[in-house]
Amino acid sequence: MEKGINRRTFLRSSAIVGAGLVLSPVVRGVGRGGSAEEINVAIIGAGTQGRILLKDCLNIPNVRFKAVCDIWSYSERYASRRLKAYKHEVNTYADYREMLEKEKDLDAVIVATPDWVHAEHAVACLKAGLHVYCEKEMSNTLDSALQMVLAERQSGKFLQIGHQRRSNPVYQYALELIDKDGICGRLTNCYGQWNRAVGPKLEWPDKYEMSADVLKKYGYDTMDRFRNWRWYEKFSAGPIADLGSHQIDIFSWFLHNDPASVMAVGGSDYYEGRSWYEDVMVIYEYLYKHKGKSGSVRAFYQVLNTNGFGSYFERFSGDEGTLTISEDQKKCYYVPERGKEIPVWMQGVEKIEQSGYQAVPLIGAIAKKTPDAAKAMAVLKEKSIHQLHLENFFNAISAGDKKILTCPAEVAYPTAVSVLNVIGAIKAGAKHSFKPEDYKV
Ligand SMILES: NC(=O)c1ccc[n+]([C@@H]2O[C@H](COP(=O)([O-])OP(=O)(O)OC[C@H]3O[C@@H](n4cnc5c(N)ncnc54)[C@H](O)[C@@H]3O)[C@@H](O)[C@H]2O)c1
Repeated sequence: MEKGINRRTFLRSSAIVGAGLVLSPVVRGVGRGGSAEEINVAIIGAGTQGRILLKDCLNIPNVRFKAVCDIWSYSERYASRRLKAYKHEVNTYADYREMLEKEKDLDAVIVATPDWVHAEHAVACLKAGLHVYCEKEMSNTLDSALQMVLAERQSGKFLQIGHQRRSNPVYQYALELIDKDGICGRLTNCYGQWNRAVGPKLEWPDKYEMSADVLKKYGYDTMDRFRNWRWYEKFSAGPIADLGSHQIDIFSWFLHNDPASVMAVGGSDYYEGRSWYEDVMVIYEYLYKHKGKSGSVRAFYQVLNTNGFGSYFERFSGDEGTLTISEDQKKCYYVPERGKEIPVWMQGVEKIEQSGYQAVPLIGAIAKKTPDAAKAMAVLKEKSIHQLHLENFFNAISAGDKKILTCPAEVAYPTAVSVLNVIGAIKAGAKHSFKPEDYKV
């Protein structure tokens, strides 16, 4: 690194390069010793998902944690102790404003708080000149999701949204199989589901009960609402946003378009005291458009919290075959239509039985396609999908290249539009048609 350019200036200039304004050979994210530049990171929200992200970050050599911010001492202590055990000397905070005021050496922040405060936290961090990795769903309201995109643009910093399937090589290769290899033929239908068995509410240890004053200061009126925020309208947009946003995002990604319309029904008659639809069934109409090919595609999506059969996967069907993909690798397979040949490179893969069909297991098949594909599938044995998505974020920062991001805010926003409008469609009991400008910022 040149004398007189400190590490923060270096990373700031990287963001400028990402915006296409400067091109310098210095900006490669590689220090003199050839090792990756360290990136100073804080986390806001160290609950269930925050801890998963922390654990994965510990496997990324150039990430150095400097601060943990959480309003709940239970989460803050758990995370800061773990980080200190791994020699990350972190300061701890309850209030993100104090953290942003005091921590002057940060480069990036991971936001893993409940959805209703994502915009507040992400926008404040971007305005403070920091790159942000923010968990999905972007927000529980479209207006605040929009504010996040605008803040990202104004700051020139990066905002990666936690739809980690976008960095999953199985999904990336599956898209290639549909688009380039044409293994489904002409796409006509998509299906996705996330089914979960009935579950209890979350609890908390008595000794970590927060005082009424602290709860109130941060917008929660009871400990139950603080822990079970997904159940309540103020804090979440319910299961369709919590789980559906991941998978509806895949529909739009694979169909190269956003939905033209949505119809939906939702049930809120099983659980007592839950303000959100526990079970939702949605039909989207899409116009598939890619490289001169086009056609109508209908996509059915359901999220259930009353039965777990089949758990979670997404499925793409056309006149030549059906591809099923999931974060669960056992659920990734291809079934050709009767009488259709499978590609030569798939033929040596041992078939498995799936619901009475002879199916080609996808991971094994992709690994046989090319040496690069084999390498990409081997990575799945070493790294979690969240780690790959975090690495994508940190690599973009190091390279100063926003184009590297697999899920920047501009990509996640149209998904938020498709998902959050399901609620209006359920309430109206009618088909909602989207206008192209609904997806634009
Ligand atoms: N990408 C994924 O696969 C995935 C999976 C699960 C959850 N998530 C997302 O991660 C986020 C967190 O979910 P979770 O299950 O970890 O929830 P959680 O309730 O377990 O954790 C939230 C944490 O945020 C803290 N918090 C709440 N309000 C805060 C505030 N104002 N300032 C600082 N800290 C605050 C809480 O004390 C808690 O420790 C959500 O947006 C959720 O949708 C993503």
